[in-house]
Amino acid sequence: MTATRKCRLVVLISGRGSNLQAILDQAASGELPVDIVAVISNRPGVQGLERARQASVPALELDHKAFPDRPEFETALSKLIDRQYPDLVILAGFMRILTPGFTGHYRGRLLNIHPSLLPKFPGLHTHERALTAGDTEHGATIHFVTEELDGGPIIVQARVPVLPNDDPDTLAARVLAQEHRLYPQAIRWFAEGRVRLAGEQVEFDGQPLTAPLRLESFAG
Ligand code: GAR
Repeated sequence: MTATRKCRLVVLISGRGSNLQAILDQAASGELPVDIVAVISNRPGVQGLERARQASVPALELDHKAFPDRPEFETALSKLIDRQYPDLVILAGFMRILTPGFTGHYRGRLLNIHPSLLPKFPGLHTHERALTAGDTEHGATIHFVTEELDGGPIIVQARVPVLPNDDPDTLAARVLAQEHRLYPQAIRWFAEGRVRLAGEQVEFDGQPLTAPLRLESFAG
């Protein structure tokens, strides 16, 4: 966060962890000024935890099924997160709905990646839904997390074309390749202090964003 201290990052996952891998790789190469202080999965034994271990990052499991309800799980999750003193917490394929108590606690320092051009297609099965809708463009979004599911202020989006012979898998793969560029970029902006949440609005370089940033404008 300063010239002498890197942004302390906690990553929450539920599965494969390919976005996590992109972030681990950029952190290891020095492109991303973050210390990944913990990776936490609500599902035991997932591939993302192994990716963290391979990168010598603490890999923690907190099985939501071990808790009687959502608030109790979130209380335990918050304790685990806050013990790491993170500057930023990110959801990278973390597939649990969060309560307002949790999202409020991390307001302004909690990001999510979602595989659609929000506000289109919040929730699940986004690639199928884009195809069914006949959309010619699809993509992924990074946004600050608020209490509305997939509804928080948007920072940046990456767009891909929908091609005539696409099925949900081919489209998902095209989007995922962009996700792996998109999340590191958004994290870098946050870590450098260029992006922040001011009230309900995203500020970029001190100016309110009037529309989501587009990845194409920044990366070749
Ligand atoms: C990614 O496509 C991410 O956008 C999506 O889950 C996948 C996780 O992949 N997230 C959501 O759908 C959240 N609503 P990964 O585990 O390989 O990073």
